[in-house]
Amino acid sequence: MTRFAGRTAVVTGGARGIGAATVRRLASEGASVVVADIDEAAGRQVADSVPEAVYAACDVASPQAWNDLRTLVLDRFGRLDVLVGNAYLLRQGPADQVGPDDWNAQLAVNLGGFYLGTRTFIGELRQARGALVAVSSVHAGFGLPGRPAYAASKGGLLSLTRQLAVEYGPEVRANAVVPGPILTGAWDGIDEAGRERSARATAAGRLGSPDEVAAAIAFLASGEASFITGASLTVDGGWSVTKDSD
Ligand SMILES: NC(=O)c1ccc[n+]([C@@H]2O[C@H](COP(=O)([O-])OP(=O)(O)OC[C@H]3O[C@@H](n4cnc5c(N)ncnc54)[C@H](O)[C@@H]3O)[C@@H](O)[C@H]2O)c1
Repeated sequence: MTRFAGRTAVVTGGARGIGAATVRRLASEGASVVVADIDEAAGRQVADSVPEAVYAACDVASPQAWNDLRTLVLDRFGRLDVLVGNAYLLRQGPADQVGPDDWNAQLAVNLGGFYLGTRTFIGELRQARGALVAVSSVHAGFGLPGRPAYAASKGGLLSLTRQLAVEYGPEVRANAVVPGPILTGAWDGIDEAGRERSARATAAGRLGSPDEVAAAIAFLASGEASFITGASLTVDGGWSVTKDSD
């Protein structure tokens, strides 16, 4: 497929997991892709393994980093068609134990990063009749202990995406994917028993792969989704519709 031939994409958090899979997927369909991440070693590794991908150091919470990224994108490619907001920060703990600094940091990366990215590139995206894709989470809609800021930021991303669709349509479409349990490095601290519990909590009976989320992101970013905007696509193997009858 060459759905992205001649197009340019930025993928935040593109050095690992779902972001890296999205970089590979978009590039395999013809896109030039910028791997925007704070992890230089991993980001360069991904970019080096993909023709037409470049690494850019970018902390999505920093307005200056977005300005620098815009300069790089325009110097190198002269356009932007797709912005995927995927980078995230998780600091666990119940609300009364998450201090204001940790709260603000998670909101700044997870939600603020997508706002800043949109703000930075909206001119180019409008010109290209491009697409915004936010990576939310099933945590946006379900309470799981110890993740108040993460859940709030992911819920906020769904609201923000709808808002952006209204604000910047018809030129720019804005959508979100809502992943369930996806086996990435984010699961490194979770033992086999925990992984099996999460797999059993899906209708698919397994954890998802980063490639399966990347496929949904690529669809929403592509012309095949031309009448889809302000929407969210759940990619959770049925996690959110499964309820144990015991
Ligand atoms: N893995 C899952 O089970 C799961 C489930 C639901 C939603 N998600 C969402 O999917 C997205 C990707 O998750 P993943 O599991 O692939 O994570 P991951 O930990 O494998 O990768 C996250 C990437 O984000 C980068 N990053 C972190 N802070 C950054 C910042 N300030 N600026 C730029 N880059 C930054 C990291 O360096 C890393 O490369 C996240 O938004 C996450 O909330 C994941």
